[in-house]
Amino acid sequence: MPSQIAPRDRLIVALDLPGLEPAEAMVARLGDAVTFYKIGYQLAFAGGLPLVRKLADEGKKVFIDLKLHDIGNTVARGVESIAKLGATFLTVHAYPQTMKAALEGRADSGLKILAVTVLTSYDDNDLNAAGYRLGVADLVATRARQAQEIGIDGLVCSPEEAASLRKVVGDRLSLVTPGIRPAGAASGDQKRIMTPARAIAAGADYLVVGRPVLEAADPKAAAEAIVVEIAQASAR
Ligand code: C5P
Repeated sequence: MPSQIAPRDRLIVALDLPGLEPAEAMVARLGDAVTFYKIGYQLAFAGGLPLVRKLADEGKKVFIDLKLHDIGNTVARGVESIAKLGATFLTVHAYPQTMKAALEGRADSGLKILAVTVLTSYDDNDLNAAGYRLGVADLVATRARQAQEIGIDGLVCSPEEAASLRKVVGDRLSLVTPGIRPAGAASGDQKRIMTPARAIAAGADYLVVGRPVLEAADPKAAAEAIVVEIAQASAR
């Protein structure tokens, strides 16, 4: 099913920057090219959370990527507070208790909860060392199914997992994929990467892109080029 979301709104730029000042400068540089931003550990813990409300008031959408995981009551009350900030997406780890608590905490706020199935830096050996008996593929599928049953809004996954997860969860859940590299961009520490066009074709709804935009000589032009690629891939 072709996505109903406008191509520009499917690009989420990760504001992985060390403070409010560089983050606000980047948002100003990107201007109308970008409508959706992600705020993660680095910026959130460097005084960046007030930017959520500011961006929301300017009509932008914000994804708070704090990957919460704690006892249910703590998650629920934390999400209740986060829901007041004006964000669109929030991540939690895909443990059943944590996912249920996040849905309880967001109540009718409109905040959408995304679950992280298995971190993309984990392979089967890492899971084994952490005490899990399932490998990555089985654990991702199990947790995706649980997320769907619990009523989670979307999953964060590698673009390589998007096509198989789409089969597990159908069309109701949004798939949000980092690990995106336009052709010719440096891969950095990302190992399992895809171009924007291939990730869209694989079934991703939203693409999270950090360094290929932030480190470009012309970030706005880099973002515009990704939007064009998304538009072309969505039209196919
Ligand atoms: O700079 P780059 O495009 O690699 O940034 C990707 C963003 O997506 C970063 O903010 C990173 O933390 C995040 N992310 C990821 N892999 C995941 C989950 C989140 O790269 N599995």
